[in-house]
Amino acid sequence: MPAARAAVGEPVALGAPSDAFLSVRDLRIHFETDDGLVKSVDGLSFDLQRGRTLGIVGESGSGKSVTSLGIMGLHRTARARISGEVWLDGEELVSASAEHVRLLRGRKMAMIFQDPLSAMHPYYKIGSQIVEAYRVHHKVTKKVAAERAMEMLDRVGIPEPRKRFHDYPHQFSGGMRQRAMIAMSLVNNPELLIADEPTTALDVTVQAQILDLIRDLQKEFGSAVIMITHDLGVVAEVADDLLVMYAGRAAERGSAEKVFTEPQHPYTWGLLGSMPRLDRERTDRLNPVKGSPPSLINVPSGCAFHPRCPYAALNGGSSETVRPELREMAPGHVVACHLADDDRSRIWTEEIEPKL
Ligand SMILES: Nc1ncnc2c1ncn2[C@@H]1O[C@H](COP(=O)(O)OP(=O)(O)O)[C@@H](O)[C@H]1O
Ligand code: SF4
Ligand SMILES: [Mg+2]
Repeated sequence: MPAARAAVGEPVALGAPSDAFLSVRDLRIHFETDDGLVKSVDGLSFDLQRGRTLGIVGESGSGKSVTSLGIMGLHRTARARISGEVWLDGEELVSASAEHVRLLRGRKMAMIFQDPLSAMHPYYKIGSQIVEAYRVHHKVTKKVAAERAMEMLDRVGIPEPRKRFHDYPHQFSGGMRQRAMIAMSLVNNPELLIADEPTTALDVTVQAQILDLIRDLQKEFGSAVIMITHDLGVVAEVADDLLVMYAGRAAERGSAEKVFTEPQHPYTWGLLGSMPRLDRERTDRLNPVKGSPPSLINVPSGCAFHPRCPYAALNGGSSETVRPELREMAPGHVVACHLADDDRSRIWTEEIEPKL
């Protein structure tokens, strides 16, 4: 499957599969609710290679978690409408049977949830939950699996793993529970690991240890990692590639280096303005994004960001009426925004770059 490439400045073709390890193509995940159809993910595409980390950033409610659960095949309910393609190592998962996706989950792909209690059962001992997770995919005795579970608890930095193996989740602190869940997610050496805000509830020291741990395990197993967060400081540290999401779509996507040093989308500028900075005076910083994220039932027309965008008026009405497609600004760096090149360069030179 050859990767479809667009020339710089051309709209990027969606829906074309690529040869990446994970390739998400025009993914749509909508939910029927009593209030109307929630378009949580609405035409999202990205690629991820083995051994690389993709950071997905965006405010709360932008569709990050729904995207990850969608890749994991965890939205197969009557109220969810899913279309598009999720290619994992050459297999398409949206159209695959639920049974097949269940087999891949755990063995080939795993997820670390924001709240460890959503992944761990309160009534079973930590050790036996990891043992079960391992035995689903490996025909081994409980004893062999227990050795493996203790080894994993040790790897994630749980002190006295042989003793703590017999604890219940409530006997662990928040940080330890998070580590135990990570041990459970990693026990089968997943080739794709999705970490959904894995460090939000943790203090800074534990947060740094957990990010190091994910990095070490990635190095060892060459896994592909998706790191979801609203904390740009975290992605700056770990991501190779970056996807900025707004209202269920990609606003900007590219190498983390490009997106951090030459951000192109007004929403990304606002996110960078919201990032805490100790090295700058308040007056010398980018403006944080104002207002709140839109309802995904009544998504604003045209560019969904237009009600909050300081530059919407520069585009002769198209920001309000025409949905911007992703365009390639530089090789591999795509942006969905109508700003004309001369306006964008002027804003960049006068307002953004001096404050980055
Ligand atoms: N099962 C569901 N049914 C209806 N709406 C949902 C469901 N899951 C998520 N949503 C909605 O989808 C939107 C995106 O949610 P989510 O992906 O959790 O955001 P994020 O992780 O970026 O904060 C939100 O508006 C949320 O309320
Ligand atoms: S398309 Fe218009 S409203 Fe949307 S980000 Fe660009 S300038 Fe702002
Ligand atoms: Mg979320």
